[in-house]
Amino acid sequence: MAQFKLPANSRITDGKTWSAPAGAGKTRRFRVYRWNPDEGQNPRVDTYEVDMDSCGPMVLDALIKIKNEIDPTLTFRRSCREGICGSCAMNIDGTNTLACTKACDDVDGDVRIYPLPHMPVVKDLVPDLTHFYAQYASIKPWMQTQTPAPPDSERLQSKDDRAKLDGLYECILCACCSTSCPSYWWNGDRYLGPAILLQAYRWIVDSRDENTGERLDDLEDPFKLYRCHTIMNCTRTCPKGLNPAKAIGEIKKLMIERRT
Ligand code: SF4
Ligand code: SF4
Ligand code: FES
Repeated sequence: MAQFKLPANSRITDGKTWSAPAGAGKTRRFRVYRWNPDEGQNPRVDTYEVDMDSCGPMVLDALIKIKNEIDPTLTFRRSCREGICGSCAMNIDGTNTLACTKACDDVDGDVRIYPLPHMPVVKDLVPDLTHFYAQYASIKPWMQTQTPAPPDSERLQSKDDRAKLDGLYECILCACCSTSCPSYWWNGDRYLGPAILLQAYRWIVDSRDENTGERLDDLEDPFKLYRCHTIMNCTRTCPKGLNPAKAIGEIKKLMIERRT
């Protein structure tokens, strides 16, 4: 698959401008990153003037309107439109977030839209998440048990144990946090990054899982866990209000506790 990863010091040229239709009411300019592997050219930024009087309030509404009414070649991912699937994660106005929950009115001036940073690009706003998902699979994100399940009930947990999953189970794996993390930018081949480490912690603290020791053993590695330097970009950017940096800190604490 052809891919494009923008070198850190390269410039993206201005592309085409699509003017608002005659008679448009209130218009906004959307400056959108474009790259098509089939064209064999450098990326560019196209400008779309959108009539906001006939557009929904969210950035995703504007992208859908652009695709439907102005430029059908614009490519982006979306599915739920409710902040649940994580598909529409992208960089809007300099911050990684979900296009479906980001209001156009929350952006001053032109709305600048880029793919999630430091990921290979498949096309336009679509990053290649293959490596991210492989890292997710590597933490075995399912319940692992040694003992047989009770014959007549599910594996139960107390309310207090269930509460330990709050702030973790809500993660939608949008990758906004990992792609905002400088450590992940530079060492993403081996550092698992905040999203995957938050997910790892979600299984480590699940009272029903019986492979906690093995899970911690797997993370006892100079790169997988310890490249986090508590820069906190991850927590600042999470569109679900979660705290991956805290989850990483909790894993580090467990590592120390079991050594003492
Ligand atoms: S922790 Fe937040 S930003 Fe990171 S993947 Fe989960 S929902 Fe997305
Ligand atoms: S706290 Fe850790 S995981 Fe979060 S952005 Fe900083 S280095 Fe990355
Ligand atoms: S479309 Fe599902 S989170 Fe935005």
